[in-house]
Amino acid sequence: MGVKVHLGSVNITEETKKLMREALDAGVISQGRYTEDFEAAIRKKFSAPYALSASSGTAADTLMLAAAKYLRPGKDEVIIPALTFIAHVNAAYYNHLKPVFVDVGPDFQIDTSKIEEKITPRTLAITPVNLLGGFCDMDAIADIARRRGIWFLSDDCEAFGSTYKGKYAGTLADAGTYSFFASHTICCGEGGMVVTKHKEMADLIVSLRNHAVKSHNVAEKFVFPRIGFNAKMNSMEAIIGLGLIGRLDEFIAKKKRNYAVLRDGLGVDLIPDTSDRSHVLHGFPLMFASQNQRDEALQKIFNAGIECRKLFSSIPTDEEAYRYLGYTPGAFPVAEDLSHRTLYLPIHQNLTDEDLAFMVHTVKPLLA
Ligand SMILES: Cc1ncc(COP(=O)(O)O)c(C=O)c1O
Repeated sequence: MGVKVHLGSVNITEETKKLMREALDAGVISQGRYTEDFEAAIRKKFSAPYALSASSGTAADTLMLAAAKYLRPGKDEVIIPALTFIAHVNAAYYNHLKPVFVDVGPDFQIDTSKIEEKITPRTLAITPVNLLGGFCDMDAIADIARRRGIWFLSDDCEAFGSTYKGKYAGTLADAGTYSFFASHTICCGEGGMVVTKHKEMADLIVSLRNHAVKSHNVAEKFVFPRIGFNAKMNSMEAIIGLGLIGRLDEFIAKKKRNYAVLRDGLGVDLIPDTSDRSHVLHGFPLMFASQNQRDEALQKIFNAGIECRKLFSSIPTDEEAYRYLGYTPGAFPVAEDLSHRTLYLPIHQNLTDEDLAFMVHTVKPLLA
């Protein structure tokens, strides 16, 4: 059976079509004024002092860590939750940083009570992820980072538009990252962004994403004081984002409504809003009593034509890619348990009432 309900959905607006025509006529397709306009739109929307576009969320994570490392040399460990998307961990690897994993709590987010015991003189940063669009205890992490003199760098690729005490995800830490890949609230095809409070970090990222050129002065264009990346967003992606950012509030309202319909229809509410946290979720999470039950449900839901996903794994224990670090099953019991028993359903802004009713009709019997 074909897919009836997709995990993510693309919106191409009239504004995008107009800008795209203008850009194509002018031959502006690489990084340039449209990427700058998209960065300015993000800065304005989220009240972020600096916003730097990148070729993907993975690239944004990588650039953020690279800049943090160059600004505080000699530190080579980063604290990362065991339960996250693998790209978050890969970004540390690309920077020759050792991931030091911390288990999560029952809310899917990094267990802040277990962070301090992992801090050493080599710790560069705490890099939590606001998983599925929920929030870690951002105040507690900010406090630890401040007291211990380390960076607080959050991966907000799944939390675009979520707010914590009225502030947007991404703007709560020293820096944060977004992804504009297909399953995210704003989809540009590919793309990412780093937002930061720190000018020196922003300046470094502008250089690092462009092979680490010394400056844009013609005489210094081919002078490279550091090893950089080619991680620039192009104009086509920025224009898709520019056409969507004005509709973000509408998308947020739709995703929140979809969450409420699924919550009420299925009787499940794993990441509820609270008085100070308003979540724009990446997917609608469902938890089962056992891994077998989860796996069976995943297959049945998928076979019915609803694109769903297993929750990410406990990276150090479950992913072969990181087996070389030597962790054995049981090292991160909560992350392992949650990842084995959870799946998530689509929640995107273009779901119709029929899609939602079909999802409730299909999934509800599997929860009995
Ligand atoms: C938590 C998290 N970090 C990083 C990424 C990487 O983003 P991208 O796919 O744009 O490289 C994702 C992607 O979905 C993600 O969910």
